[in-house]
Amino acid sequence: MDDLRDKYLRQIGDAADEAALEQVRLAAVGKKGEVALKMRELGKMTPEERQVAGPALNALKTEINSALAARKVALEDAALDARLREEWLDVTLPTRARRPGSIHPISQVTEEVTAIFADMGFSVAEGPQIETDWYNFDALNIPGHHPARAEMDTFYMARAEGDNRPPHVLRTHTSPVQIKAMEAQGAPLRAICPGRVYRADYDQTHTPMFNQVEGIAIDRDISMANLKWCLEEFCRAFFEVDEIELRFRASHFPFTEPSAEVDIRCSWEGGTLKLGEGDDWLEILGSGMIHPKVLAAGGIDASEWQGFAFGMGIDRIAMLKYGIPDLRAFFDSDLRWLRHYGFSALQAPTRHAG
Ligand code: PHE
Repeated sequence: MDDLRDKYLRQIGDAADEAALEQVRLAAVGKKGEVALKMRELGKMTPEERQVAGPALNALKTEINSALAARKVALEDAALDARLREEWLDVTLPTRARRPGSIHPISQVTEEVTAIFADMGFSVAEGPQIETDWYNFDALNIPGHHPARAEMDTFYMARAEGDNRPPHVLRTHTSPVQIKAMEAQGAPLRAICPGRVYRADYDQTHTPMFNQVEGIAIDRDISMANLKWCLEEFCRAFFEVDEIELRFRASHFPFTEPSAEVDIRCSWEGGTLKLGEGDDWLEILGSGMIHPKVLAAGGIDASEWQGFAFGMGIDRIAMLKYGIPDLRAFFDSDLRWLRHYGFSALQAPTRHAG
């Protein structure tokens, strides 16, 4: 029995992996293993012999089993160690060089516009892109039958069947935010409202989604003169040209009275656009004195307060400032375009010192 024990303990110690260990287990304490065979011999022994051999065999079996278990754990630990050593990787290695992302011209220009108007005391107000009929039209003095509704190529949201309320719209301009700002802040008020707007239109200078910035200033004695100064000041700072010239052309908007469209003097000589010189004019925005009905819709007493408003195409002025010829490319997500016209994330909004 001592020979048996020595033999199997040695084999267990020598087993190089779990498969080899299993072979040893079967040979030693398996159903047909050597210990089992020895146990079968107990029946042929005298009771005296059996009393000695029985417990000894059982002890041997227990000893072999615990040696097997210990060896199994040791083999598992060794296997894990080997795997950890093999799968080790150096997390301090440098990563693959990557091009940083860039700021879209729309975001850059929105920042620039915001920074310039912030210097003039305007805060930023925002509103939803899905608007009620009331905020997009009625409150802005565009009643149901008004031709401006048809002219705007409005996208209407679907209503559930049987719901006869007027449908929500994708806002066609940022002017509804005027009303929301008046409701939220009352007078006096100075705010700009940049954001996305929607109209069913598509060509080189029109996309179904584009960006506007609305501006409003309301106080007791705001006039067209203040509007003119603000816009000239803005254009000088934004386009970084001292000699800027704006032309106020009489126009009509339901929500302003009087109304003016504003053009900027420019030249296209040699195919390049220069602002502030030449004999051409480029339309950049709509503006006017806020209609008393619009003030009233925003909860402001028109006998006490008055103000100006303007709405400018952000994409339009981005095209002008950065010489981007096709508006549609703004929204194509073409990486080559974004790398060419995009701005580095560290670039501060440009400001004109003059
Ligand atoms: N909301 C007008 C548009 O989208 C622009 C505008 C705003 C005109 C404010 C006058 C005053 O065309």
